[in-house]
Amino acid sequence: MKERTLTIIKPDAMKKDVAGEIISRWLQAGFQIKAMKLVRLDLKAAEGFYAVHQERPFFKSLTQFMSSGPCLVAVLEGEDAIRRNRELMGATDPAQAAEGTLRRLYGSTVQNNAVHGSDGPATAAFEIAYFFNALEIVG
Ligand code: CMP
Repeated sequence: MKERTLTIIKPDAMKKDVAGEIISRWLQAGFQIKAMKLVRLDLKAAEGFYAVHQERPFFKSLTQFMSSGPCLVAVLEGEDAIRRNRELMGATDPAQAAEGTLRRLYGSTVQNNAVHGSDGPATAAFEIAYFFNALEIVG
């Protein structure tokens, strides 16, 4: 089934100048980019995005990291896009991620793990609407 997912190139990957390589991997995997923008999250915006993690011990550090520099945020569309993007990203911890995955290649720690991708349809709907309105998504 064709679906959409929200994906983020995080500040660590932006600083490493590997956004181009990551975008190429999305395209090679057959995803269509339906929306994309460069954003600098402030702390409040990062806290709102990751609100589901607010009780976790890493919440403060995570939201500081996510607001530490620009992110590239995109909506990808394709068959089974949520699962396939998570497969392309690899495990949360780059050290555990499979060879050739984005996190293995470009992440450095469980927090600074290069990319984010929605983990389910309800999360994708919330996350897409968090960054994009209907006019900003090319149908
Ligand atoms: P992401 O897929 O964006 O979803 C939540 C993020 O929290 C995750 O990637 C990591 O950046 C971060 N994260 C998850 N687990 C940990 C952890 N144990 N310690 C620090 N950060 C974490």
